[in-house]
Amino acid sequence: MSCLKRGPVLAVTSVSVFFFLIVLRLINEVNFLKLLSCFGQSGSGCVPLSDIQRQSLAYRHGYVNIKTREPLHLECDLCAIVSSSGQMIGQKMGREIDQSSCVWRMNNSPTKGYDEDVGAKTTIRVVSHTSVPLLLKNAEYFFKETNSTVYVIWGPFRNMREDGKGIVYNMLKRIVEKYRNAKIYITTEERMDYCDSIFKEETGRDRVQSGSYLSTGWFTLILAIEACNRIHVYGMINDTYCRTEGFRKVPYHYYEPGRYECDEYLLHENAPYGGHRFITEKRVFAKWSKLHNITFTHPDWTV
Ligand SMILES: *[C@@H]1O[C@H](CO)[C@@H](O)[C@H](O)[C@H]1NC(C)=O
Ligand SMILES: *[C@@H]1O[C@H](CO)[C@@H](O)[C@H](O)[C@H]1NC(C)=O
Ligand SMILES: *[C@@H]1O[C@H](CO)[C@@H](O)[C@H](O)[C@H]1NC(C)=O
Repeated sequence: MSCLKRGPVLAVTSVSVFFFLIVLRLINEVNFLKLLSCFGQSGSGCVPLSDIQRQSLAYRHGYVNIKTREPLHLECDLCAIVSSSGQMIGQKMGREIDQSSCVWRMNNSPTKGYDEDVGAKTTIRVVSHTSVPLLLKNAEYFFKETNSTVYVIWGPFRNMREDGKGIVYNMLKRIVEKYRNAKIYITTEERMDYCDSIFKEETGRDRVQSGSYLSTGWFTLILAIEACNRIHVYGMINDTYCRTEGFRKVPYHYYEPGRYECDEYLLHENAPYGGHRFITEKRVFAKWSKLHNITFTHPDWTV
């Protein structure tokens, strides 16, 4: 008799334990990228993350201020990401770009003298460790005149190490000593690994084994997806552009004549060692633009 009575109780208990285990398993398996892919989506099985969840994720995988050790805190509604590509020449998008909540630029791409095409405002500049010496050439401009800009520097441990042996870290340290208001953040090692792991997950290839380096665009897009509600990318070509009949032949950078964009892209894509996989990366960006609110124009992508 008592057995019959206890039956339902046992059943309910084991059912809850079962669900509890499933939930545990799900928590373990939902990796950061899958959470990311829920941003900007409603329905389709994704629970939109609250701002607090977003901040804590950005905190865990983020960038730290070189002086204060504070994590980067950045929240924007509409972000304009301005490519350094020669595609920006003659586009006259400056006014529209400057109206965005946050304007993102890369490396040492200038605004002075190009503002009609690329705008004048810079909220955040994502900079490769290899481009830090280029900023130093114009340090008064970057760290004094435009001292409201946030600098985010990515680089490998060997250059970013803080024990006196990281040459890029040492340069940055000297910058913040001289320009006390400069807002400079550096990648954590965890962040570098995380960006590598996304490359592996998206392409099936190990970045190091495939002999390539991630591009500044890669770090920019990942951070922007975390920080922005909507993203408008200006001047970035898609993965088939350089194979398209009659494509516009433009310089690699809008501010540097000489090298051509598609020549450079193909050279890098096929380099056995030390190249950026720009074309592969664009294929991944196209996929992300379907998951997040990302628009590509000049040239337009219809993803
Ligand atoms: C920051 O930039 C503004 C505008 O260029 C300038 O007036 C100000 O002196 C700068 N602040 C510092 C502390 O350098
Ligand atoms: C994406 O942003 C555009 C404006 O830039 C807006 O019209 C559209 O509704 C947004 N879509 C989603 C899915 O949030
Ligand atoms: C990629 O760019 C080329 C050249 O601008 C264009 O013809 C093509 O439609 C684009 N592909 C997609 C999927 O948008």
